[in-house]
Amino acid sequence: MSADPPWWARAAVYQIYLRSFQDSDGDGVGDLDGARSRLPDLADLGIDTVWLSPVHPSPDRDFGYDVADYDDVAAVYGGTPALRRFVDVAHDLGLRVLLDGVFNHTSDQHAWFRSSRSQPDGPHGDWYHWHDGPHPPNNWASTFGGPAWTHDPTSGRLYLHSFAPEQPDLNWANPDVQQAIFDNLAHWFDFGIDGFRLDVFNNYAKHPQLADNPWRTDLLGRVARFIYPFLAQDHIHDRDRPELAHLLARMRAIADSADRPLVLVGETLDERFEYDRAATWCGPDRLHLAFHFRWLHTRWSAPDFHAAIRDQLAAFGGGLTPTWVLGNHDFPRLATRWGAGRHTDARMRLVPLLQLGLPGMAVVYQGDELGTPEARIPRKQIQDPPGKRFWPLYRGRDGCRTPMAWDAHPHGAFTTGTPWLPLHPDHPTRNVAVQRARPGSIWSTYRAMLHLRRTHPALVEGQVTLPLSPSAAVVTYLRHTSRQAVRVVANLSSKEVSWRLPRGEVATGTLLTTGFCASSARSITLGPYAGAVVEVDQP
Ligand code: GLC
Repeated sequence: MSADPPWWARAAVYQIYLRSFQDSDGDGVGDLDGARSRLPDLADLGIDTVWLSPVHPSPDRDFGYDVADYDDVAAVYGGTPALRRFVDVAHDLGLRVLLDGVFNHTSDQHAWFRSSRSQPDGPHGDWYHWHDGPHPPNNWASTFGGPAWTHDPTSGRLYLHSFAPEQPDLNWANPDVQQAIFDNLAHWFDFGIDGFRLDVFNNYAKHPQLADNPWRTDLLGRVARFIYPFLAQDHIHDRDRPELAHLLARMRAIADSADRPLVLVGETLDERFEYDRAATWCGPDRLHLAFHFRWLHTRWSAPDFHAAIRDQLAAFGGGLTPTWVLGNHDFPRLATRWGAGRHTDARMRLVPLLQLGLPGMAVVYQGDELGTPEARIPRKQIQDPPGKRFWPLYRGRDGCRTPMAWDAHPHGAFTTGTPWLPLHPDHPTRNVAVQRARPGSIWSTYRAMLHLRRTHPALVEGQVTLPLSPSAAVVTYLRHTSRQAVRVVANLSSKEVSWRLPRGEVATGTLLTTGFCASSARSITLGPYAGAVVEVDQP
């Protein structure tokens, strides 16, 4: 990494799931004025960038990920004036704002799709993937289950949707589609946003003849074929196509032509969680950064953490910047995936030490800084379409989308009305106010680590070095510049360990600890799930 990384290469991003963050008008749905009122809390936490889940008008068949108008902001969120106020206040507080760009598909209620389905020879006739049927032209499967082709009664034809039938895929091979999306990027950059998170960007380009995907021959593939065909295929023709490169280059050129540094960070859809795939699409003529899901599938184990860090640093070597995404609105909560009964909070305090000391972009999903567990939503209250469809096999994503708990008021002060999803039952005791008041809380540990991340040169711009081999219990890494070296050490086990610093390294000061830690110049004793950030002198 260069001595002076750009802002996005060391950003601490906070993902605001807008519907569930803060309601300002009592309708039970979070909105932009509500979120704006909480921006000082985020600045205080030490965040420098916020990513807003989709803000555009949407019939909410996939809660905003089905956009009906890319130029507008949904009334339920306060409309465009509320976004203006939100961005202005964020900027005044020194926070950058990323919008969620959902450009693989639109809503079936978007004017483009309405026009496309009713006038095949009209101006939008070729903006989506149509097939005259009666059978689908290929074996592609929807991420949300079943085939990726649905019969449209209006036109009598079939159309492609990689997600729900209400989310028809745009035909990115059409230059008019490309231009419309590029114009939209430019529009929001002119508005003043600082970048986009690009939803499932690696799905945009499709095989020109829409060729069949090969079926996987491994056991998973053979079983999944009948239950969830999406997982049974190698997505070589509907994803990660070579045609994508020039689309990303055009998007990058638009971002680079602005008078301030903007960022494009893509969400890589990849059920094999390979870093290399995400890294392929990053670079000076493509995306700045890409999210991927390896951490969402990494077990709580020191060797597994070590391997995940090592592999990611390797894949994003050569001038690329890694991203550290531990949770989001699509996956079961961090505290539930990595929890262990009464040790859960201790583990959750260790997470920010490990995550936020690493170089690159770190992303914190709202509520994870409180250790919010996955909620079990009763069947009648399930909102997420895949949850409704696959219940009880899959209960959907509502459990990680419950509203934020700010204090001990009813509904955690999220709303004065009835929340669209219930809060997690823990909210009277697990909320921002309670944890802010307690110095050793999960929230306070995030805050302390975010502060170190900004103020210590080794953490801002230092190289990172991992031990050559993993240990059974301890994950550690060193960040170092020519002037300063900082070591992070974390005990992932339930037993006390005594850890010796590498030969020649001497601890000179403790910057932050969680759990029981006792350090001397040459070794650190760490209680169960304890961690330390120490300044060290090197030979
Ligand atoms: C992304 C979003 C997810 C959405 C899907 C389709 O994976 O994170 O919430 O359902 O794309 O847009």
